[in-house]
Amino acid sequence: MIGDAMSARLSSPILIGRMPEMGALEAAFGRAAAGSPAVVLVGGEAGIGKSRLVREFADRARDAGGLVLDGGCVSLGSEEGLPFAPIAEALRGLLRIADASVLAGVIDPATRELGRLVPELVAGGTEASSETPAEWAQTRLFDGFLVLLERLGERQPVVLVIEDIHWADRSTRDLLAFIARRLRHERVVLIATYRSDELHRRRCGPHRRAPAAAWPAPPARCRAARRAPGRRRARACGGR
Ligand SMILES: Nc1ncnc2c1ncn2[C@@H]1O[C@H](COP(=O)(O)OP(=O)(O)O)[C@@H](O)[C@H]1O
Ligand SMILES: [Mg+2]
Repeated sequence: MIGDAMSARLSSPILIGRMPEMGALEAAFGRAAAGSPAVVLVGGEAGIGKSRLVREFADRARDAGGLVLDGGCVSLGSEEGLPFAPIAEALRGLLRIADASVLAGVIDPATRELGRLVPELVAGGTEASSETPAEWAQTRLFDGFLVLLERLGERQPVVLVIEDIHWADRSTRDLLAFIARRLRHERVVLIATYRSDELHRRRCGPHRRAPAAAWPAPPARCRAARRAPGRRRARACGGR
């Protein structure tokens, strides 16, 4: 496709600028590796370089021994996004990169509920119990994801990247808010990107809560980035 060829040609192989933002992400990773989990929101207009920044950081985190899991929210036009879609994507990524021994060590009754999102994660599948009230199943799923992150973090620091949370469905928003609030000493960095322009457009109606608004206290350190050459303003905010 012409569009793809153009963007491939125009894309710089070298990350231009973004040193303060990269520094904020690397500092968050360092804190998480030492047992202080971090939540980082990366906001900015479409095309400003959020994904590129996070991708470059993810490469560095992998080189530094981190486990990177990532998933993206998908726009379904006027509809809510698919429930838990980015979380399922991140878990499928884990299936691809983790050894069977690692999976065997992290999947047990406390995390089995995640098999509802990605059945292959759980040998033998997860049996749906008709007696389990739906809200309990959700609690077990949320808890299971937190436990999974904690266990993975015992082996290596975990970077969980969820892209484009302005398109997140309600379930994903709730899960991310839960994780952000419950992280205590897990070796985890949660990074979420969002389009600031989309956020303002969507902040209306009962089902369209701004994703960042559902999150814990505003990031402690929030720094407006200097523009990368030729680029508009983006922000990387870190803290918990
Ligand atoms: N700092 C940067 N240095 C070099 N290229 C960049 C930089 N930021 C963004 N780009 C390029 O600009 C394009 C759009 O960036 P992208 O990260 O996809 O934007 P966003 O995720 O904010 O919508 C991509 O081709 C990306 O590689
Ligand atoms: Mg992007």
